[in-house]
Amino acid sequence: MSDASAAGNPAAENPISETAVEEAVAAALAAVAAAGDTAALKAARTAHAGEGSPLARVNAQLRNVPADRKAATGKLVGQARGRVNAAFAAREAELAEAETAARLAAERVDVTAASTRWQPGARHPLSLLQEEVADIFVGMGWEIAEGPELEHEWFNFDALNFDEDHPARAMQDTFFIDPPERHLVLRTHTSPVQVRSLLERPLPVYVLCPGRVYRTDEFDATHLPVFSQFEGLAIDRGLTMAHLRGTLEHFARIMFGQEAKIRLRPNYFPFTEPSAEMDVWQPSAKGGARWVEWGGCGMVNPNVLRAAGVDPGEYQGFAFGMGIERTLQFRNELNDMRDMAEGDIRFSGQFGMVI
Ligand code: PHE
Repeated sequence: MSDASAAGNPAAENPISETAVEEAVAAALAAVAAAGDTAALKAARTAHAGEGSPLARVNAQLRNVPADRKAATGKLVGQARGRVNAAFAAREAELAEAETAARLAAERVDVTAASTRWQPGARHPLSLLQEEVADIFVGMGWEIAEGPELEHEWFNFDALNFDEDHPARAMQDTFFIDPPERHLVLRTHTSPVQVRSLLERPLPVYVLCPGRVYRTDEFDATHLPVFSQFEGLAIDRGLTMAHLRGTLEHFARIMFGQEAKIRLRPNYFPFTEPSAEMDVWQPSAKGGARWVEWGGCGMVNPNVLRAAGVDPGEYQGFAFGMGIERTLQFRNELNDMRDMAEGDIRFSGQFGMVI
């Protein structure tokens, strides 16, 4: 009797040797132990447990194992694969945990650590100056008043005695807002707040109105298209040009020192009569004491009082207006007004970083 089939032949050779299985397992376990991170472990898994690995090749040989050895060899290979897979799983969990711990440690933020670039915030020198001016007038019993920057032409021009076709309307290079029939402008000066204050407040009125104004000016060393002014308005019984002079001189002395003084030169504004240009004597200017043109002023024109419903026979008063950027420029002898608009901390920092 002859049986040619390998499976039926007890003498047939077993293609899977125990040594080969042990070697494959040992190599796989060594690779698992050597894998230092999940990427290395993945590569080891491909090499030792993936398709084409020694263990996979052994597994593929199972079908060629003689029948009488099949059970034992199958068990041997199955246990070998089981050990290797368990080793991979355990190492994978271990590495993932270590990597998470390392990432958390690396991303740790010490919220109590002192920063090396700590920079305190500070007020802008224009805001500080505006407050300084406001404080001086509040100290004299005046009130602070505000008005809108998007203003009706009536307040910006008409009520201030600018004729419909008065060249002064064009003189203040105005941003007109569409549509024209709404008659809105970006206010060209703070003087419209004079009229608003008179309409809103009981007399007498003593108000200082700081705020932003707009003109179609170039952006250069002495002009900004958006800048700020402060407007002063005093309406009471019996106020004269002497009160205007005294008030402005007092203001100038606080701003520029006790030797400061002012001088008035005749000028024209539709909303004041008489009108004057005001110069200030700045005693401690770097290049020596000097006269500097500071702003406009005058006795409020009776037409403005009438437009605001005030009887000019009973109440009179004065008004003045100065630019805040211009005041900062000559008080601190700054060359370029653009520095005030650009927001560079190196500029603001020179003013003492007051908070
Ligand atoms: N409104 C004027 C200007 O912007 C300044 C001014 C205010 C003049 C008050 C007289 C009285 O030029």
